[in-house]
Amino acid sequence: MLLLNGSKLPSVGFGSNTGAPPEKGEELEKVIDSAIQTGYRHIDTAFFYRNEKIIGNTLQKWFKSGKLEREEIFITTKLPIFGVHPARVDYFIKQSLSNLQMDCIDLYLIHFPVGCKFQEGAMFARDENGDILMEGRTDHLAIWKKMEEHVNLGHIRYIGLSNYNISQISTLIKSAIIKPACLQVEIHPHLQQRDLVEFCHKNEITVVGFSPLGAADYNLRMKTYLPEYQDQQLPNLLGNQVIQSIAKKHSKSVAQVILRFLIQSGVVPIPKSRNSQRIKENFNIFDFMLDEHDTAALQDLEVGEDARISNFKGLIRKIENHPDYPF
Ligand SMILES: NC(=O)c1ccc[n+]([C@@H]2O[C@H](COP(=O)([O-])OP(=O)(O)OC[C@H]3O[C@@H](n4cnc5c(N)ncnc54)[C@H](OP(=O)(O)O)[C@@H]3O)[C@@H](O)[C@H]2O)c1
Repeated sequence: MLLLNGSKLPSVGFGSNTGAPPEKGEELEKVIDSAIQTGYRHIDTAFFYRNEKIIGNTLQKWFKSGKLEREEIFITTKLPIFGVHPARVDYFIKQSLSNLQMDCIDLYLIHFPVGCKFQEGAMFARDENGDILMEGRTDHLAIWKKMEEHVNLGHIRYIGLSNYNISQISTLIKSAIIKPACLQVEIHPHLQQRDLVEFCHKNEITVVGFSPLGAADYNLRMKTYLPEYQDQQLPNLLGNQVIQSIAKKHSKSVAQVILRFLIQSGVVPIPKSRNSQRIKENFNIFDFMLDEHDTAALQDLEVGEDARISNFKGLIRKIENHPDYPF
């Protein structure tokens, strides 16, 4: 997959949000080792995942061993929801560079179009009722200008967005000096976001799809961030009979068919797994092609907004009232 200026973004990435707290670093190190050994050269992380340091340490080990060069690996990280304010962009970019032990981040995304207040040392700043304190309307352009400064300083190669909608991206594009190279959004067979993908492709924005397999561990993971998180219903993509029959036809797994579907739709999937067999399985998707019947059947699985997993409704009370919601 090509980025704006023709640089290559590996067409499948490794999602690193295992939900494991930082103290479980050893487990994540093994997972990242396994991904690199398998051949993944594109790793997705975020300040919010609390794993940048572990990923930085693991990559340094690989670089020092001489088995991997810095230039061979593409790293994406993100401005956290509590950094979505122009006054905090410098701070969080410096934090990510230091955590990752890198001079330059390949791709830096604004994680969400909505921001929360920031309180050092706490996951979220809260009011006296325990509710998460939100910022008001986001000044997207001021944040973007800050990120552009860091591109000019050589701290970041590409800048992009995550969880933004067409209207928010259109507004930003009009004033941005450096165009967004990438949009990372939730994409799977029940939420294909075809209008958004088409809009991005027309504007030369590479689309990366998160939760491609339906994020079966989403509820567990969210509880590690917020104990009061309310479980939500998740799509059962891996048990879907239509996908199972396509998988049987190609002698592939359901996960492989889904990932192939995204790639053939021009989307870069970033599946996550903690299991070395499944890490390999999710990478072994380049030896078959879905035909037009498979593609049509998969397109018919679209459910739309009701299938959105990452809507933050169970995480931040009243998020629906924020002027920059929905994503
Ligand atoms: N920008 C954003 O707002 C945002 C939001 C969510 C996620 N992301 C990124 O996207 C990445 C991936 O999304 P995700 O973790 O939400 O969901 P996902 O990759 O769709 O699903 C992960 C779940 O699927 C299981 N799994 C993985 N491979 C499998 C296979 N071959 N067969 C059966 N089950 C399999 C995993 O279990 P095992 O681990 O046990 O294999 C885990 O429970 C994240 O890690 C993160 O980097 C970004």
